[in-house]
Amino acid sequence: MRTGRWWVVGGSLAVMALTVSVSIPGATAGSRPEGGLPRAEVRRQAEELTALGRAMFIDPSLSASGKLSCSSCHDPQHGFGPTNAQPVQMGGGDMARPGVRAVPSLTYLQAVPPFTEHFFDSEDDSDESVDNGPTGGLTWDGRVDRGADQAAIPLLSDFEMGNTGPDAVVAKALAAGYGAALQHIYGADVLNDRKALYAGILKAFEVYEQDAASFYPYSSKYDAWLAGAATLTAQEARGLDLFNDPAKGNCAECHISQRGNDGTPPQFSDYGQIAIALPRNMQIPANADPSYFDLGVCGPQRTDLKDRPEYCGLFRTPSLRNVALRRTFFHNGVFHSLHDAVAFYVTRETDPGRWYPRNPDGSVRVYDDLPAQYAENINRDPPFDRHLGDAPALTEAEIDDVVAFLKTLTDGYKPPS
Ligand code: HEC
Ligand code: HEC
Repeated sequence: MRTGRWWVVGGSLAVMALTVSVSIPGATAGSRPEGGLPRAEVRRQAEELTALGRAMFIDPSLSASGKLSCSSCHDPQHGFGPTNAQPVQMGGGDMARPGVRAVPSLTYLQAVPPFTEHFFDSEDDSDESVDNGPTGGLTWDGRVDRGADQAAIPLLSDFEMGNTGPDAVVAKALAAGYGAALQHIYGADVLNDRKALYAGILKAFEVYEQDAASFYPYSSKYDAWLAGAATLTAQEARGLDLFNDPAKGNCAECHISQRGNDGTPPQFSDYGQIAIALPRNMQIPANADPSYFDLGVCGPQRTDLKDRPEYCGLFRTPSLRNVALRRTFFHNGVFHSLHDAVAFYVTRETDPGRWYPRNPDGSVRVYDDLPAQYAENINRDPPFDRHLGDAPALTEAEIDDVVAFLKTLTDGYKPPS
């Protein structure tokens, strides 16, 4: 069993202290040792950064088109995921450039560990010395570790918010009136330092994304059930058992459903980078080019591991919290119902013709979104361990049970009065 340990351990305030004090622009290295700021000061800065990040997150004037805010794609009412069922969203200065990946939820990212090629889990019941392989990092391919570095991606991407560079972002933020807040947080001199301003803007997004009430409230029915304050319906309880059972769904192997040893609530991900060989999604315009493949950890969005063929096709396991608020699933948004998403797991091997296209001779073109030389990267853990014609690990009714259980992971549960 694996759980992330960033930020969660020790409570978020201590962590905030670290995050904020280390990188206040303008502070010379060493002048503010970690934890060197008085607690009240740290709290004030964190609150102001959160408020600034929250305001900028919903502000479309920070984009080249003037039409796209972070929340256009990451809607707070939808677990900070997309509101529509499109596999990819439109962006760019003219709002006419399609993205290449589905928009992930931003909830429960606080526990994502930094990317590593070798993850050893101290919480693993069986053996601490097992190398779980590439794990963690933000975005579907884990290519950045910090929220601040991540925020720079959409702000500058020519198919997202479309700014031509950091100066354009800073100019827009000042034009939108954030100068006073930035000055209050970082000190009077910050307005004379464009680099510090840019870093300060990015930091505000990162700190906002660590706001527990907004991003990781643990307020689902499942959390209430874990706390003994709610009862699962018979169908939800069956679904949970099937989700956990290694001989049935085996979902919890990767989407961890139990508390960590220190009592941390389950995140429903172990953050592993895994290839599950989804069908190619021809609704993504980039896929019209038959030579284009989104290979996740080995590229092309991510470039540092492009010479590592064993990483081609791997994408980070997402948390399943709030997954029922989504209308498109997986990194390429190929499925539009939870039933299909779960059915794919149990029938990828037993009935591949249900998902993959056919060759002219009628044979099924399995794994059609991953070039054949990477086939050995494809995960074969249960329920992917079955063979053509075997009975699937879950019946259609059992898939419905798992889906009913997944719906208990949506935050904002109100017990019936
Ligand atoms: C046009 C749609 C769009 C906009 C606008 C957008 N994002 Fe995203 N966001 C995405 C997509 C798509 C991904 C996945 C990118 C990838 O895997 O390469 C993503 C990924 C992320 C992630 C990483 C999630 C994870 O699971 O690791 C964070 C954090 C994030 N966005 C924050 C932001 C912030 C902050 C803004 C505004 C500054 C923003 N996004 C604006 C589409 C968008
Ligand atoms: C071997 C690890 C592993 C197992 C076992 C596993 N998953 Fe996943 N899951 C992943 C990975 C990796 C992804 C993302 C893959 C991608 O998009 O390319 C994912 C994505 C998903 C998504 C899409 C979430 C989103 O935000 O789009 C759903 C739903 C899901 N899994 C449900 C399940 C269920 C239900 C089971 C059990 C039947 C299960 N998973 C078993 C690793 C796993």
